[in-house]
Amino acid sequence: MGSESTPTLPILDFSNAEWKPGTDSWLVACKKVTHALEQYGCFIIEYDKFPLQLHNQVFSLLEELFLLPTETKMKNRYEKPLNGYVVAELDQMVTRMIFESYGVERYHDAYTDTTTYLLRLLKNRAPQQSEPTLGFITHTDKSFTTILHQNQVNALEVETRDGNRINVDFSSPSSFVVIAGDALTAWSNDRVLSPRHQVVMSGNVDRYSLGLFAFNNGTIQVPEELVDDLHPLKYNTFDHLGLLRFYRTDEGYNSKCPIKAYCEMGSQTPLKLPVIDFSKPDLKPGSNEWDLVKGQVQQALQEYGCFEALFDKIPLQLREAIFGSLQELFDLPLQAKIRNVSNKPYHGYVGQYPQVPLYESMGVDDATVTEKVEALTTTLWPQGNSSFSNTIQSFSEQLSELDQIVRRMILESFDLEKYMDEHMGSTNYLLRVMKYKGPKTTETKLGLNSHTDKNIVTILYQNEVDGLEVLRKEGEWINVKPSKHSFTVMIGESLYAWLNGRVHAPYHRVMMTGDKARYSAGLFSVPKAGYIIKAPEELVDEAHPLLFKPFDHVEFLRFYYTEAGQKAESALKVFCGV
Ligand SMILES: [Fe+2]
Ligand SMILES: [Fe+2]
Repeated sequence: MGSESTPTLPILDFSNAEWKPGTDSWLVACKKVTHALEQYGCFIIEYDKFPLQLHNQVFSLLEELFLLPTETKMKNRYEKPLNGYVVAELDQMVTRMIFESYGVERYHDAYTDTTTYLLRLLKNRAPQQSEPTLGFITHTDKSFTTILHQNQVNALEVETRDGNRINVDFSSPSSFVVIAGDALTAWSNDRVLSPRHQVVMSGNVDRYSLGLFAFNNGTIQVPEELVDDLHPLKYNTFDHLGLLRFYRTDEGYNSKCPIKAYCEMGSQTPLKLPVIDFSKPDLKPGSNEWDLVKGQVQQALQEYGCFEALFDKIPLQLREAIFGSLQELFDLPLQAKIRNVSNKPYHGYVGQYPQVPLYESMGVDDATVTEKVEALTTTLWPQGNSSFSNTIQSFSEQLSELDQIVRRMILESFDLEKYMDEHMGSTNYLLRVMKYKGPKTTETKLGLNSHTDKNIVTILYQNEVDGLEVLRKEGEWINVKPSKHSFTVMIGESLYAWLNGRVHAPYHRVMMTGDKARYSAGLFSVPKAGYIIKAPEELVDEAHPLLFKPFDHVEFLRFYYTEAGQKAESALKVFCGV
């Protein structure tokens, strides 16, 4: 306090620590960790579980890696040459201490289960001069926590709450720096600081560093224990990966505090999807009505990739019957439901996943084909259930008309009429029926993770329990509130790829609250196995270079459900991006 000496970060010695949660030394360390995070958002750990020999190996490997020709390095972007295991262990210890010292350790397992780690390898070239040069601009991390390890070139500067800069000292090879990210600040309801930091280089030695970034696959919610009169809730529950996407939008990038901007969005005037009326009796190709609606479809798809469709060709009685059938289906014992299998990934029974405990779904392949639906029905009810199979089949068949109207309009708007027959003939219909249990709390719980659909067009019909949210390009979530006369139409990535990026395939998720179950039925037009999706030459030119190499949808799906596919930000780009 008031001293003239250069400020330094707190150093916590984790070496030789034989701590067990609950011991005195563990509790002391918990306090120190939180204190440092609240004060600086950052601290140094001395950690000898990372032997000097390994440290040296890592950095000579890093040097070697960055010496590779640029082309080779670019190819390497999705591989992980180094294992972040040791550091991940350290991160888990630190987050556990944070949770414990706030008295919310009961959430820690759930947090760890939904955490993924990104290991980034960084090189800052030496400027070869004594004058300081900016190596990385001032920013806050968007992670929950970041752990940095580096060679002995000190260049990282961390800003304190009052704007002073601390030069972080890495002179010891067993030093690790823990930095709180924006997600931790939000989770802690503003108790922890997410410090601004930058890299400033000087001299003639390159800086190599490894950063382990912890991200949450699901939503981040301020624990109720951290909200009281003195600390009113500052952040709405938010989707962590959504925050990252928002940050890359202009609005997010230019925002003074992206996390605040992102989390406050829910509280503004509710956004709505465009509503398009397909119920008009003279909606025939070539008519004025048709062209009018076609224009609305094109605009909605470029802007949102999604719209609400009014479509009354399906009798109300059938629309109501579908929910009775869904309830009957999900009320079956689990042993019966798991008999719903498919040779295509994600086409059969899905459920009982700890990460999305509210969610359960079943697939009816070729749902417009009577024999196929009947065959599935007999698998589920060996004694038969004709009202179920009739409802499912007629609903799918009548709804497939809307799918075909929408697709016809899309092809016409891009002057692709000559591909009409090929395009329409290249797909099957999958009816996926879904149940999301009510979480039985007033808090909002994740029903289904944010994702994009992988097929051509999805049309959803749901009961009166809302929960679907669609992400706008600008980063805001739209709560979808369809009526019982309307359907939600959404573009999938296969159509996005076929149209060479001309329409938007939106991220969407399901967020649940309250007691009631949400039932929904989705008709998915899905490219047939073996059909190669290839953008028509009319849509590829200098202004629109080809985005994806031709691909088979089923092979893509198989990749999507591998670990690499699940981790990729865009599985399609990794699988067949140009
Ligand atoms: Fe950073
Ligand atoms: Fe979806």
